[in-house]
Amino acid sequence: MHIRVLGSAAGGGFPQWNCDSPRCRAARRGRLVSERRSQSSIAVSQDGHHWLLVNVSPDIRQQILDNTMLHPSGAVRSSGIAAIALMDSQIDHVTGLLMMRESDEPLSIYCTKRTEEDLRTGFPIFEMLSHYCRASVTHLPLDGHSIEPDETPGVRILPIPLTSKAPPYSRHRQDPRPGDNVGFVIDSPDTGKRAFYAPGLGEIDDRLSAWMASADIIMVDGTTWTDDEMSKVVGGKKTSRQMGHLPLTGEGGMLDVLADYPLARRILVHINNTNPVLDPESAERARLEAMGIEVSYDGMDIRF
Ligand code: MLT
Ligand code: MN
Repeated sequence: MHIRVLGSAAGGGFPQWNCDSPRCRAARRGRLVSERRSQSSIAVSQDGHHWLLVNVSPDIRQQILDNTMLHPSGAVRSSGIAAIALMDSQIDHVTGLLMMRESDEPLSIYCTKRTEEDLRTGFPIFEMLSHYCRASVTHLPLDGHSIEPDETPGVRILPIPLTSKAPPYSRHRQDPRPGDNVGFVIDSPDTGKRAFYAPGLGEIDDRLSAWMASADIIMVDGTTWTDDEMSKVVGGKKTSRQMGHLPLTGEGGMLDVLADYPLARRILVHINNTNPVLDPESAERARLEAMGIEVSYDGMDIRF
């Protein structure tokens, strides 16, 4: 099984267009230029030809350009992207669908009923696409069954309902229900190894801990270092937890959680531009390295 990280940053990317914090400035024209990151997305394939795009960021056009396996090949109109799975309806995870409107075929999209609802109401992107390529929607099961999209042979995903948040535009923002956000368990049929992927993760319960304990590779929400980071670094009003992202540090933070799985490969995804771990020379990055925890980057290649 093959996972390619297309975008390793949270919404806004790194640097964010309107952010002049020292780190964003250094990523624009200084020491951190090589640390730039695009917005959250991965691609998954078993055969290396048919790719499941997991979340479609506003940066999808550049991400496709940067990842040759997603380029057209064969027919004059074609793509390595055979199907799309959405884990929530957050703007950074769905807006790129509009950049794929030139498709000759309806986009084959796998998402929960709740995500579809948001994408037909608060952000009516499916209605918009109906005037272009159209979207063909298949619901992700939430009953513990896995699903293998016909378009991506061998890529079997098991959706796990997570506690995180529906987007600010959603009617369900203050009314959380299973299916607003999911994580994926992805098993490799060749090696029997298992990956768990969750870019938006607000709380860990026992059921989720059991899934994480069963994974050989854990790719999880690394949005912020501290809960109050947005207000400290850029004067934001929301805490990380209020946005549905468990911070890395603090009581019960993601580092405490990950410390329970020392044998797994542990990789942080969905890193916000305020997070000090984006600086490879920071004390925070050194702490991750001491724990054996990796920070994902655009183009990171994972085979299992
Ligand atoms: C989030 O996950 O909270 C997002 O990155 C927010 C956004 O895209 O605006
Ligand atoms: Mn996000």
